Amino acid sequence: MMSLLPPPLLPFLPFLSLLLLLTIACYFIHQRRGLPENENRRLPPGSMGWPYIGETLSLYTQNPNNFFSKRQKRYGNIFKSEILGCPCVMISSPEVAKSVLVTQSHLFKPTYPKSKEMMIGPEAVFFHQGSYHSHLKKLIQSSFLPSAIKASVSKIESIVLDLLPVWEHSKVINTLHEMKKYSYQVAITSVFGKMLELEEMEGVKHLYHCIEKGYNSMPLNLPGTPFKKAMKARKLLNEKLRNIIEKRRENGEHGGGLLGVLLGLKEEDQLTDSQIADNIIGVIFAAHDTTASVLTWLLKYLQDNPNVLDAVKMEQEEIRYMRLETNRGITWDDTRRMPITTQVIQETLRAASIISFTFREAVEDVEIEGYLIPRGWKVLPLFRAIHHCSDFFPNPDKFDPSRFKIAPRADTYMPFGKGVHSCPGSELAKVEMLILIHHLITSYKWEVIGNHNGIQYVPFPVPKKGLPIKIRRISEI
Ligand code: HEM
Repeated sequence: MMSLLPPPLLPFLPFLSLLLLLTIACYFIHQRRGLPENENRRLPPGSMGWPYIGETLSLYTQNPNNFFSKRQKRYGNIFKSEILGCPCVMISSPEVAKSVLVTQSHLFKPTYPKSKEMMIGPEAVFFHQGSYHSHLKKLIQSSFLPSAIKASVSKIESIVLDLLPVWEHSKVINTLHEMKKYSYQVAITSVFGKMLELEEMEGVKHLYHCIEKGYNSMPLNLPGTPFKKAMKARKLLNEKLRNIIEKRRENGEHGGGLLGVLLGLKEEDQLTDSQIADNIIGVIFAAHDTTASVLTWLLKYLQDNPNVLDAVKMEQEEIRYMRLETNRGITWDDTRRMPITTQVIQETLRAASIISFTFREAVEDVEIEGYLIPRGWKVLPLFRAIHHCSDFFPNPDKFDPSRFKIAPRADTYMPFGKGVHSCPGSELAKVEMLILIHHLITSYKWEVIGNHNGIQYVPFPVPKKGLPIKIRRISEI
């Protein structure tokens, strides 16, 4: 999953005026949809904010959780607002979220800013509905099924075993940056089936990072801006991928991973090179920042909750003991024998809710719970608000993995989304976290350096300063 909006603008006050201008421009482009007086009465409650700017500044100058919870208290589980010139309806009821994402999903299409679509590639799975989407989705899902991931466990383990000594020998590491290196390498291996040759790998890495910078910047297509540089890098990356694709086609060796699946299709199902390239880049994007942000929270929560840390350590020690007895690396079956660590990951996904909400757009006037959602309005199911509602998760601010001993109430837990666009990479992300935790917790200790409480948005919420830590091997302590 990719982030849609720029990070909250508190640290970027100088940009606020620019945002204001953009918002006004947006207003004139989109034109406020005038609704007849009687229709207006059936709209959900809520405020559309100031003329022209809506509630954009309110959302971006405070913690987004406060923005949502204030309005939820005042108006209930469905309320309207206007953000970046777009009228929208925000939803914090699991039942209504399910209608939007599952039962009536044909009435709500995914919607992303044009700039993001250009950057990832317009033929990537996220941007589509209908038969093209379901064809692609099946292919992507098939390469991330447990049966396919099983074969990657030892490759993922060797990435961990290469990274840990580097972290150990660094003075202080920025957890988020290092987790990003890890999740990037796992994503590349899953997508290409093997590590690329060094030269190819470096080229792809450089261009990808350039695109990433531009993706999270203001979409100003002017010389020298990160956005402009990223668009150039995107073109070059396309060429690089096409070369890799061509080489594999020529050799008749499709290779493994998602690329292998996409190249090995029967003639009638074949995708064009640009469809393949857009989806390869899209999947790397979706897999990378998300998993790294969750892993950063995981280390923070473990550090803040020593009892939980001890319980995870005990569970992992047992697995380690079994491994050493039989002189082997970690296996898929080992990862199925980690109930406590799995609950800790589930609770981390709930508590951190790094994807606070998603966007859809009503393709026609839709009536939900007696309210009208007019065609063209954005609809935002608020995952975080649902995950932090005390009716479903008592004492929601407490980090309590044991709550997952019992399955959550249906439709209240959606860290990987729900319905046709739900995440195909959830199993990979979980296995990736389990393998890292296994080796980190059984051989190392870490301490957080400095006192940087608070949250930073890059663009997902992560602990301030990316959680600087010092890692030591246990035998050395
Ligand atoms: C902990 C890490 C991750 C989280 C929290 C996460 C979360 C999500 C969520 C919430 C969605 C649904 C978005 C929506 O409905 O608009 C999604 C979609 C997606 N995710 Fe993930 N994801 C993670 C890791 C991954 C990984 C490792 C992959 C790699 C395969 C991946 C690939 C995708 C793709 C391709 C989609 C789009 C699916 C579609 O549009 O049909 N994600 N993700």
